[in-house]
Amino acid sequence: MMTKYKIAWLPGDGIGNDVMEAVKIVLDAIKLDAEFIHGDVGWEFWCSEGNPLPDRTVDLLRKTDCCLFGAITSKPKEEAEKELAPELKKKGYVYFSPIVRLRQEFSLAVNLRPCKAYKGNPLNYKDDIDLVVFRENTEDMYAGIEYHPVPERVLSTLKEHPKMQRFSHISPDDMAISVRLITRQATQRIIRAAFDYAGDKGYKSVTVVEKPNVLRETSGLVVREARKIAKEYPDIELWETNIDAMCMWLLKNPQDYGVLVTTNMFGDIVSDLCAQLVGGLGFGASANIGKDYALFEPTHGSAPKYAGQYKVNPLAMLITTRLMLDYLEENVKADLLESAIANVIAAGKARTYDMGGSSSTLEVAHTIANEIHTLERENG
Ligand code: NAI
Ligand code: MG
Repeated sequence: MMTKYKIAWLPGDGIGNDVMEAVKIVLDAIKLDAEFIHGDVGWEFWCSEGNPLPDRTVDLLRKTDCCLFGAITSKPKEEAEKELAPELKKKGYVYFSPIVRLRQEFSLAVNLRPCKAYKGNPLNYKDDIDLVVFRENTEDMYAGIEYHPVPERVLSTLKEHPKMQRFSHISPDDMAISVRLITRQATQRIIRAAFDYAGDKGYKSVTVVEKPNVLRETSGLVVREARKIAKEYPDIELWETNIDAMCMWLLKNPQDYGVLVTTNMFGDIVSDLCAQLVGGLGFGASANIGKDYALFEPTHGSAPKYAGQYKVNPLAMLITTRLMLDYLEENVKADLLESAIANVIAAGKARTYDMGGSSSTLEVAHTIANEIHTLERENG
């Protein structure tokens, strides 16, 4: 039977499985017309195949509309090597992050993280916080262009820069360089995405969070592009704030801000701060969106100590699922899920341990599924 969507289903490791089971309960209630196709990813496949993201999984993703991703375990190099199956050891296998690889493979340049203080969430830092962070996902210091020791040919080029004089007596072995590479194209893409989202969802402001007074060329480029693009959106105000000041303002009056847009590293930092304002890892949802593909994942990891215990909060994964429904333009279903989540949090009945309750992961999911049925009955 043909379904409307094909969705790659990648629970991964540890609690990734627990929270994806919760998603299944809720998606069944919402009756999304989709086929969910399981894909192998994570630690198990590193150990048994020397590849945490087998090619068959990448191929599977190519045949689907988008991907729901749970969480994966990753470990430092030496430990990774130790856990490799005996016959694979010393064969040159090197561990890599499946999620970073997928972002590159599918050019998932836009990372979006909603941070909303749901009414009744005891973990809220303040009421009325409703932030959405847009983080560029492919460039900046995370592009992996790094040197240590610094090769002579790189150093000789850098020596042409007058500011390098101060470092002329330092040996290349005593230096490490990470390149902050920002392109106009990726910058325009992330800023447009932020403004479009603000327009669609009715946010009044987009704040570009950079440091152009110090990083004159890279942050400078971002701010200049933001000013140009902002002109195309006369109804949305562009605010400019330095990353350091932003951290302060977010603690002082987070409710003043709407959409934030920034580069990869500042985005990594500021999104963790924003997530903690509204409940932390149990609420951290994210979307990785590219031109023709998207991957949705909670921001938490595999939390091995809770694996298979059905104790952790499924809300991060369920809010992530709502982002997927947005992406598929299933607006009625997205709103239904959002209302059900909000109502269940407000009622305060089903709460996992992190919210001070004792409900299980699946109890929370069933409560939300029931709320979906109730809302559907009420709305006819
Ligand atoms: P983690 O996010 O897995 O868990 C840290 C702690 O946060 C947990 O012990 C738990 O107390 C709490 N927590 C996490 N998710 C929660 C939830 N849904 N509800 C309630 N509490 C929750 O981070 P950790 O322990 O640093 O890493 C564990 C593994 O996960 C590592 O192998 C790490 O590399 C990996 N990781 C994977 C990520 C991904 O898949 N994108 C992201 C972060 C870590
Ligand atoms: Mg982070």
